[in-house]
Amino acid sequence: MTTEPRRSRDRSPTSRSSTACWQACETSELPSCQSDRSTSRTPTRSPPPAFHRLEWPARTERLTLRPAREDDAEPTWRFRRQESVGRWLAAVPHSLEDYRAMFEEPDRLATTLIVERDAEVIGDLMLKVEDAWAQTEVAVRARGVQAELGWVLDPAHTGHGYETEAVRELLRLCFDELDLRRVVAKCFSDNEASWRLMERLGMRRELHAVRESLHRSGEWLDVYGYAMLACERKGGTT
Ligand SMILES: CC(C)(COP(=O)(O)OP(=O)(O)OC[C@H]1O[C@@H](n2cnc3c(N)ncnc32)[C@H](O)[C@@H]1OP(=O)(O)O)[C@@H](O)C(=O)NCCC(=O)NCCS
Repeated sequence: MTTEPRRSRDRSPTSRSSTACWQACETSELPSCQSDRSTSRTPTRSPPPAFHRLEWPARTERLTLRPAREDDAEPTWRFRRQESVGRWLAAVPHSLEDYRAMFEEPDRLATTLIVERDAEVIGDLMLKVEDAWAQTEVAVRARGVQAELGWVLDPAHTGHGYETEAVRELLRLCFDELDLRRVVAKCFSDNEASWRLMERLGMRRELHAVRESLHRSGEWLDVYGYAMLACERKGGTT
């Protein structure tokens, strides 16, 4: 089993999108250091965590989205432990206890949403607000302006457009409520269901990294990176 890869602290342009949507439980980066506080008369304050700035639950035609709680570990484990799901995820703990420890980490709970249909947990989403890369002099303007997204749906519920509906709402929250300027997500190029989802939602493929990531099968796999800018949203519905 692989351990969760840690995001590099290197803020160079080539490393700024170093995580992928299956890497849903690493520790969020601290906001980058903006200035020498000894010379700053009015230090900037970090905005409250993203979930605190939104109203919950969020509802769509068929689904309810809400922040994850500790007692969501077991229902999400039921589908995350399945081979067809786990093969695309960064980590697949061997037991519910190990999974629970990972799931209950504060940084993970603070970036995980639960998707419910008729009060049943059918999936989970990641919404991780982060800084864009910026040159030092303008770094303060790049704080918390984008988000990395991720998704997992119970295989018992695939093929009905539920994830399209859930992620469409996630995009609405990102752009309309959180006022972000860009969202990003990555997947293995072999994960067709995931990149088809992104394309269905109008996200733009902007990266094809060849044999970039090591899968637990031992193979180095290609990775696709997708993004959407606030100004690129299509049809006014995503
Ligand atoms: C990626 C994943 C969420 C996609 O699930 P999905 O069921 O394909 O996505 P949706 O729920 O949006 O359903 C879309 C499918 O339902 C069909 N569909 C039926 N009704 C629909 C509707 N009202 N709206 C949209 N699609 C609809 C679509 O045609 C599509 O089927 P197709 O791919 O055969 O064309 C799912 O495969 C998954 O959880 N995989 C494992 C975890 C994973 O890979 N996570 C991402 C890691 S990067």
